[in-house]
Amino acid sequence: TQDPLVIFTPSGKRGRFPVGTPVLTAARQLGVDLDSVCGGRGICSKCQITPSYGEFSKHGVSVADDALSEWNAVEERYDRKRGLKPGRRLGCQATVQRDVVIDVPPESQVHRQVVRKAASTRVITMDPATRLYFVEVQEPDMHEPTGDLERLARALRDEWQVEHVTADVALLGKLQPVLRKGKWQVTVALYHDHRGGPSRLLDIWPGLYEDGIYGLAIDLGSTTIAGHLCDLDTGAVLASSGLMNPQIRFGEDLMSRVSYAMMNPGGDAEMTRAVREALNSLAQELATEAGIAPSAIYEATLVCNPVMHHLALGIDPVELGQAPFALATSDSLTLPAPTLDLSALNVDAQVYILPCIAGHVGADAAAVALSERPDQSDDLVLICDVGTNAEILLGNKSRVLACSSPTGPAFEGAQISSGQRAAPGAIERIEIDPATKEPRFRVIGVDLWSDDDGFDAAVAETGISGICGSGIIEAVAEMRMAGLLDPSGLIGSAEQTGTPRCIADGRTHSYVIHDGTADGGPLISVTQGDIRAIQLAKSALYAGARLLMDEMGVDKVDRVVLAGAFGAHISPKHAMVLGMIPDVALDRVTSAGNAAGTGARIALHNIAARAEIEKVVHTITKVETAIEPKFQEHFVAANAIPHATDPFPQLSA
Ligand code: FES
Repeated sequence: TQDPLVIFTPSGKRGRFPVGTPVLTAARQLGVDLDSVCGGRGICSKCQITPSYGEFSKHGVSVADDALSEWNAVEERYDRKRGLKPGRRLGCQATVQRDVVIDVPPESQVHRQVVRKAASTRVITMDPATRLYFVEVQEPDMHEPTGDLERLARALRDEWQVEHVTADVALLGKLQPVLRKGKWQVTVALYHDHRGGPSRLLDIWPGLYEDGIYGLAIDLGSTTIAGHLCDLDTGAVLASSGLMNPQIRFGEDLMSRVSYAMMNPGGDAEMTRAVREALNSLAQELATEAGIAPSAIYEATLVCNPVMHHLALGIDPVELGQAPFALATSDSLTLPAPTLDLSALNVDAQVYILPCIAGHVGADAAAVALSERPDQSDDLVLICDVGTNAEILLGNKSRVLACSSPTGPAFEGAQISSGQRAAPGAIERIEIDPATKEPRFRVIGVDLWSDDDGFDAAVAETGISGICGSGIIEAVAEMRMAGLLDPSGLIGSAEQTGTPRCIADGRTHSYVIHDGTADGGPLISVTQGDIRAIQLAKSALYAGARLLMDEMGVDKVDRVVLAGAFGAHISPKHAMVLGMIPDVALDRVTSAGNAAGTGARIALHNIAARAEIEKVVHTITKVETAIEPKFQEHFVAANAIPHATDPFPQLSA
């Protein structure tokens, strides 16, 4: 008679195994993705499976209730102590008895998929660099002269096929008491090197460690620092937050920070200190919000532009201020957290910094490429990551170009009279009635429009404090559509526009969105200066995009992806009315949210993605905006709203 047939779903992998084979063993032999931390000892519960009956009977597999062994004592004990969901078995304890179909639920898969953001269908496949392993280490004896670390390494090799393990001296001190306390059974956290180097011991616990291990994905922008605290096992985002980059006090944009470093001895070190302190407080804040100890953060990934990159690393950015804009290194880096003074994290935490593309095109652009993968696109895609510096990528399967463009901080709500970062209380959406010129708006944290019933009560808690980046983009575009602005960007007077909301402001005019007298809040208006700041920003973005199109030899693109700094959701229609992006059918413009942040999360959760992006950046051609005379030409023409000469047929359509 034949051995029983075992079929795993959803993989469909199958094979015949002798009666009595543990399900985990069958899964491993077939290469089925079934998790295990304890190595089949019945204590970690990672290997849970569900025998599923009937589904495959049409394929000739007859299955019955006794297709797996009865519960054994280990499962009984586990169920009593922790509870197994109905129908679940421990894969390492249940053994094959007859033909059987076995379902591996998503939470039992090592390479499970997590959605990239709410309401998204795109996924990140889990394969983190840091993983937990439970091992039994051979006790030392007089005839076995090896050290504890060597016996631990041997156990990891024999049981988990981990070839080479290293540990810092500080951890060696912890190793000995923990091995003895755990009676030679311990859990270790290992950091695997994506280039195949030795795996690093990050921590060790007696027995089975059941609290989580966590990672931080950080997008370090010139104006805003955004971070996600993630569970390294499940991929869940436990907390997200952002704060202003404290380096703003040394200069609002990158070049002013480079000048600060050039003009003030020790200025670079001052900025390094400021940003490292901010990263530590962000880590603290996220850990508190998630209810975990910051010392349980074992990994971080960091994406940033080249100037932020050098300042975070403690390297003087002076070379980035002048042609040929040489980076100290463009390669990816893996550094122990203490090297960057990230004392909030676990002392053995590892920080992975994505590679830079070139002197002005940084790890943030690499992260956007990792998130959006223009190199895998069939059609020609233009990706604009809008921040204080815009990272712009244009390309498809055959070629990808990249540049960065100095848009200034206006898109992030800075340099705007009522501007603020995206946070509760900020106006994020605006509509202006073209007939009455009256605005209605939405505020972050309130799920109503300002003219909806109950809005005043709902907004009472946060108040209305300012306008964030996406709000100011919509405000300017709506003002243009409502005839409050002429194509050159000039705000009309009350007489010219027919609304008392256009008030005199020195020699120019402002448009009042919200007069705070009723709620005791600030007056929120769009001034002529705000319009000018947005015009400069959008011209820089458009000019960068056009420069890449020139280089590619095209005058239109197939689709546009808009990505923004933390929390910003730029409306495609408003971006096009403003002339931020070239003309394209509106349904071909999508918003990717914080693509650089998503790229940082992908690198945090998937070790192969690190090697992948390191390969991809070498194939991206960088275009330098700073020394290209055509950039200036495009910039001037793009100052008009939407544009002085380029046609926008989709807008009139
Ligand atoms: Fe740990 Fe089954 S592998 S409980």
